[in-house]
Amino acid sequence: MEIKRDDFITTLGGDETVSRMDSEAKADALEDFLSTELDKILTSTDPNFPTVAEVEQKIPTRHYRMGAGNLFVATTPGAKVKTLPPMPDKPTLYDFFAVRFAPANHVLQSAALAMKNGMPEEIVLACLLHDTAQALLKADHGYWAAQMYTPYVSEKTAFAIKYHQALRFFADPAYGYEYPDLYRRLFGEDYVPLPHIRADYQMLKNHPWYEAPRLVTVNDYYSFDPNAKVSIDPFREIIGRHFKQPKEGLGNDNSPVAHMWRTMARPDTPL
Ligand SMILES: [Fe+2]
Ligand SMILES: [Fe+2]
Repeated sequence: MEIKRDDFITTLGGDETVSRMDSEAKADALEDFLSTELDKILTSTDPNFPTVAEVEQKIPTRHYRMGAGNLFVATTPGAKVKTLPPMPDKPTLYDFFAVRFAPANHVLQSAALAMKNGMPEEIVLACLLHDTAQALLKADHGYWAAQMYTPYVSEKTAFAIKYHQALRFFADPAYGYEYPDLYRRLFGEDYVPLPHIRADYQMLKNHPWYEAPRLVTVNDYYSFDPNAKVSIDPFREIIGRHFKQPKEGLGNDNSPVAHMWRTMARPDTPL
């Protein structure tokens, strides 16, 4: 990514402010700047979309794979991963939001929109959790997230989380959902969804719970405002009613997915 020095200095408050910053503060500021620049590309309104072949050509130009989880890679060039705060002995969902999923802006905005639109609580919860598995892995994140939450949420919430991934590739005018330009930018304009996604879409079209994942995609699509102020507090009652927090702590409860939570709690474990 090309950096315009003057733009960068201006965002920090000018040359004088920069001269007072230590090198660590400058490095952090640069990382923030680059991440904002990356957001600009992702939310760009440039009408020229890459082809699938062009998207593939970029693979060997990166120092990471696009499917790697957010906890495991610093995606901006030159950036380093940070030392993470330790988790408490009995971690709760709130602890993961605070120190592993943070800033979690996108999912908090999705859930806030779902709540504002008067969606059922199971759907608000699905919106809140739908992309959080991206801390672990981005590739097939809906399927990973559904598995990660299955022991702790209702069947319908897990269903909504799982299948939002397939439905986001298919427009549904009845719900006001259009195929997002963001996906043309990320996947290429001539992208054809993978066979499992197409098969799941065929299954979902006639499923009595079709609406659940569809509502996640509807609230997903409109939730990329980087300036929105969000917090998990408005969702505490819904989490209390619909999330079965294990008393031993997530990762310590010997559930079939406890290892996923342990991996996110300690992503620096080398083996
Ligand atoms: Fe998603
Ligand atoms: Fe999302």
